Amino acid sequence: MLRIAQALETQLRDAMQRALPEADAGLDPQLVAASKPEFGDFQANGALPLAKPLKQAPRQIATAIVEQLQADPAFTDLCLEPQIAGPGFINLTIRPERLAAEVSARLGDERLGVPAVVNEAPVVVDFSSPNIAKEMHVGHLRSTIIGDSLARVLEFRGHPVLRLNHVGDWGTQFGMLITHLKQVAPEALDTADAVDLGDLVAFYRQAKQRFDDDEAFQTTSREEVVKLQGGDPVSLKAWGLLCDQSRREFQKIYDRLDIRLSERGESFYNPYLEGVVADLEAAGLLVVDDGARCVFLEGVSGKDGKPLPVIVQKRDGGFNYATTDLAAIRYRFGSAPEGDGARRVIYVTDAGQANHFAGVFQVARRAGWLPEDGRLEHVPFGLVQGEDGKKLKTRAGDTVRLRDLLDEAVERAEADLRRRLEEEGRTEDEAFIQHVATTVGLAAVKYADLSQNRITNYQFSFDRMLALQGNTAPYLLYAVVRIAGIARKGGDLEAGAGSEPLRLAEPQEWALVRELLKFDAVIAEVEEELLPNRLCTYLFELSQVFNRFYDQVPVLKAEDPARSSRLALCRLTADTLKLGLGLLGIPTLERM
Ligand code: ARG
Repeated sequence: MLRIAQALETQLRDAMQRALPEADAGLDPQLVAASKPEFGDFQANGALPLAKPLKQAPRQIATAIVEQLQADPAFTDLCLEPQIAGPGFINLTIRPERLAAEVSARLGDERLGVPAVVNEAPVVVDFSSPNIAKEMHVGHLRSTIIGDSLARVLEFRGHPVLRLNHVGDWGTQFGMLITHLKQVAPEALDTADAVDLGDLVAFYRQAKQRFDDDEAFQTTSREEVVKLQGGDPVSLKAWGLLCDQSRREFQKIYDRLDIRLSERGESFYNPYLEGVVADLEAAGLLVVDDGARCVFLEGVSGKDGKPLPVIVQKRDGGFNYATTDLAAIRYRFGSAPEGDGARRVIYVTDAGQANHFAGVFQVARRAGWLPEDGRLEHVPFGLVQGEDGKKLKTRAGDTVRLRDLLDEAVERAEADLRRRLEEEGRTEDEAFIQHVATTVGLAAVKYADLSQNRITNYQFSFDRMLALQGNTAPYLLYAVVRIAGIARKGGDLEAGAGSEPLRLAEPQEWALVRELLKFDAVIAEVEEELLPNRLCTYLFELSQVFNRFYDQVPVLKAEDPARSSRLALCRLTADTLKLGLGLLGIPTLERM
């Protein structure tokens, strides 16, 4: 995919296709971005591989292609005369007036050139998904931030998105916890808020310890799970209270980060687990191995060279995490009323779950649960590490609580802001300071996470994420503030959006135009490849190109005939940054 307004790209590709020898043969024009701005916008390398089959010199082929192109009005309307370079590359430059027209169109388009899909089937984004009675950890934070951004991009494109929180609200952990609480804090099982989540987490840890050490406790816990799964009202009530409590804690984090999620936990799929087994049985996929019912995976084997199984039903008849995920896939692709009718299902979890998903995806495909164009995608991400490269821990060596982490980001942003205000001799009221500090602090945490290629581990550093320079949230927020400042200095940013053609001349202006016109291509890339860091890098580059333009070209000079065009470029930059940051879940500021 080339990064230029998609409408222009399509026209260019079509024209190139027509100009190739044997135009119907579906040859690839091999379009890539130009390696240097002086070579134009694009380079077509397609002549080179044709030399052999056509038994001609590549330059000769390139010459013939260029002749064809020059005879095609659809091409000559779009590009300046192509130049042949080196062994037979064709350098292509989009006509400036076409670029200018595209910019003008975007000035009047709140979607900034991104087309909206219509009548698409729902897309499921399964993200965040913490576990009840356990603390939400930094891995869940990553999932939450990345998943939310992907959901925002898909929603902006017009897809109906189901943002599903697949919380771990079922299974053996409740057996242990209930058994333990019955003995040490029975009030927690029949009274709301008798203990807080911190205590609950501690109780859970103790329960797990006892479960590991004490056989009698294990037996009672298992009985407790059976009771719960059997619908025993006392157990169900206790379970409901425990879930509520965790849920409220999770919600506080979601509210702070402005994340919308629909909870549909593992327990939702209980009624469908039997159906999963029946389907797999009917498809002839189930094998009983050592009492457990399994599906053996194709092309995935263990150390001993034997195929690995996905266990669907344990020896004791219990179901597990994989069974629930199978039921979830079946439901998500299934049709209403007992299904979501989705065509694309996306899972955002740490890379450690890659094998789990590869396994259940394969089983689901072989069971025939996917519609023809159905897509199942795991979006894995790496670990969050401290600056020492080890697992993120507090100074005391404990796991970092999300609430504390967000608080610290905001506190540091506030300290930075107060320092800056003092240096600049500015006085601002408390409300302003709190608003800016909160926005910057939370933006920094989100952006630091999103701007990394998610596959790699990521080193968490407050200093780095809060820096005003570099690929950071404060840098981008500052670019937006700078543009808002132009308006305050009397620049009417709405000027130049009218019918008057843009006046563009300076190289810094053209560089900014070309950068602005990449936006729709970048969104299409993120939608396809599910890599929010592509959007981050783009917004960072846009800010840099803008800052160069703003530093080198006068924008507010009163008598300059290009003034309104330049102000229009400022406005489109601000709109692009605001929309782009919005798709990352980051609100912008007018002043900071
Ligand atoms: N609760 C799981 C965890 O904390 C994540 C669930 C992800 N979603 C899924 N459908 N398995 O690791």
